[in-house]
Amino acid sequence: KILILDFGSQVTQLIARRVRDAGVFSEVYPYDIGDDFIRSYGAAGIILSGGPNSVIEGDTPRAPQAVFEAGVPVLGICYGMQTMAAQLGGKVENGKIREFGYAEVRARGHTALLNGINDFVTQEGHGMLKVWMSHGDKVIDMPPGFKLMASTDNCPVAGMADEERKFYAVQFHPEVTHTVQGEAILGRFVHEICGCKSDWNMPDYISEAVEKIRAQVGSDEVILGLSGGVDSSVAAALIHRAIGDQLTCVFVDHGLLRLDEGKMVMDMFGKNLGVKVLHIDATDQFMGHLAGVTDPEQKRKIIGREFVEVFQREAGKLSKAKWLAQGTIYPDVIESAGKGKKGHTIKSHHNVGGLPETLNLKLLEPLRELFKDEVRKLGVALGLPHEMVYRHPFPGPGLGVRILGEVKKEYADLLRRADAIFIEELRKTVDEEGKSWYDKTSQAFAVFLPVKSVGVMGDGRTYEYVVALRAVQTLDFMTAHWAHLPHDLLGRVSNRIINEVRGLNRVVYDISGKPPATIEWE
Ligand code: XMP
Repeated sequence: KILILDFGSQVTQLIARRVRDAGVFSEVYPYDIGDDFIRSYGAAGIILSGGPNSVIEGDTPRAPQAVFEAGVPVLGICYGMQTMAAQLGGKVENGKIREFGYAEVRARGHTALLNGINDFVTQEGHGMLKVWMSHGDKVIDMPPGFKLMASTDNCPVAGMADEERKFYAVQFHPEVTHTVQGEAILGRFVHEICGCKSDWNMPDYISEAVEKIRAQVGSDEVILGLSGGVDSSVAAALIHRAIGDQLTCVFVDHGLLRLDEGKMVMDMFGKNLGVKVLHIDATDQFMGHLAGVTDPEQKRKIIGREFVEVFQREAGKLSKAKWLAQGTIYPDVIESAGKGKKGHTIKSHHNVGGLPETLNLKLLEPLRELFKDEVRKLGVALGLPHEMVYRHPFPGPGLGVRILGEVKKEYADLLRRADAIFIEELRKTVDEEGKSWYDKTSQAFAVFLPVKSVGVMGDGRTYEYVVALRAVQTLDFMTAHWAHLPHDLLGRVSNRIINEVRGLNRVVYDISGKPPATIEWE
């Protein structure tokens, strides 16, 4: 196993993720975990992460001395390289030019880490790597015993190695995807230099996670707010695997869910997996509070507030529960760490997360270290259906932000049916490679527009509501393109909606990108 010491970089978990991708077990611990821990941990190799500090300042983080005395390979990344240099007798200086972003690094010294790995070869025959750099300080004198492993124009020592002791260090970040050979480099470190086999996989992950959950909660009871989304569903399945009936899930139906969502959740968790799920139908409560409200932010606040109220009430009834489980995943952790620094609130996002502290429950977050695609793989390995695990995201306020203006039950019913037809057709329509348009889009849904337009059906005039279809492609949901859906697919969806959903007589397709539009309409 590989031990990763965290010096506070935003991307430390990415290192762990790449090591997991290489089939090797790894854990992240804070840099100041202590010498005794390092000595007894039994790591096959240690990785020192990047971090925001400067080693030039006196009391900034240092690696425990035991790291360099454990007799195992060590890889320092960015700050990890600088502290390694400083602690082993080299010199770090405050660079005049900050390097941030793309850089080309020349590999040198034929080291076991970089030899033969490159993205292109220069006319002079130098192997070059395309990497991602982010640093102000740089190493100017290598510690005794080290040789040069890589350099850039601005950074003469972009990598160094003491191959005798198997100490390696790079100024760039091999863990980010912008470093093209990053995976190969980390793979080399763990396989060839540390000698780890790739024998760690999802079933192992599950048994380790199950052990951890059992150790953490003992015989206590746990509650979890199940939304039907991927994260809370996978968390529920994992925790149920660990502690069975000590887990109770609360599924709050605010009347703004997709068609048959409640039934789907109850069937899958209640019937198939045997999880205890309380199905709380709070439609009337939500609709009551939303009546007459048209402002999008106010609607979101009401839905968020009522959600907490319902959850708190139900949780209060489960008086023995000591833990609140949540499907927080690693990107959520980063996002909330960055809160406050960010600019304007574009929309106040509401999740099942963010429940009040007044519940007096301890938090159980077994997916905290995982990335979305890993959560999905975990879900499949736990036996959740592929179709549910690879679903598009669905916002916490649900159809509440897809019914423009005032929310009414009548509108929600029309929208649910139109939306289900759209999704069904997207799933059914496949391209030449057999991939469905549902899988080719990142998020797709219908939006209810509370305006009426004139139509003609049979011999009669109609005067009914409009739905807009939205389908986007995006990697991070921060920016998005509208999806170029085939016209015949759009035509089929439009026909079916108008024919099958009485009360709707017009369908339009949203062709706005994000920015300037957002993905949701409210
Ligand atoms: P926007 O509309 O801001 O949406 O471009 C970006 C992504 O966030 C989702 N979204 C939400 N998710 N609670 C959530 O859990 C919310 O309040 C919320 N608002 C937007 C949206 O569906 C899209 O995936």
